[in-house]
Amino acid sequence: MAKTAVYPGSFDPITNGHLDLIDRGRRLFDRVIVAVVRNPSKQPLFSAEERVALIREVYKGKDRITVDAFDGLLVHYCQRMGADAIVRGVRAVSDFEYEFQMALMNRRLSNSQLETVFMMPNETYTYVSSGLVKEIFALGGEVEGLVPDAVLEALRQRLKGR
Ligand code: PNS
Repeated sequence: MAKTAVYPGSFDPITNGHLDLIDRGRRLFDRVIVAVVRNPSKQPLFSAEERVALIREVYKGKDRITVDAFDGLLVHYCQRMGADAIVRGVRAVSDFEYEFQMALMNRRLSNSQLETVFMMPNETYTYVSSGLVKEIFALGGEVEGLVPDAVLEALRQRLKGR
């Protein structure tokens, strides 16, 4: 039976580290749904629609990848989409505590119907995060190679004249 994974996140904006994870997920699962949370805890730089559009642009023409936005509980979204697993990236031990807590809570909320699969991005991306990318770019630093070209352009447009 075809296996579907949901890769959820804020993706504000998507980085090359996220893309690395999506490619790994695509090797393990038949379909990967990149699910952009509509209301992240922090005020986002890009709206959910903008974040979805940027990711779709990157995966234009690629099969077995769906990009979507979701509201509410992740487990409810996964159930609606018929997902078998949640994929999350772990860059360092510091990520682990929060990820472990979420994974166990999601397991409980789904009555053990959903597994969380942790994957490590390529070590080149261990230090890359959306937050740092935004901060560095806003302060005039170079983020080329850390984000896809579409994101670089969107950052230029968004932060122009700020
Ligand atoms: O990229 P992020 O910000 O680390 O992603 C966090 C995300 C979106 C995976 C998490 O906040 C989430 O699942 N939000 C949806 C609401 C929810 O289900 N909360 C309970 C999690 S146990």
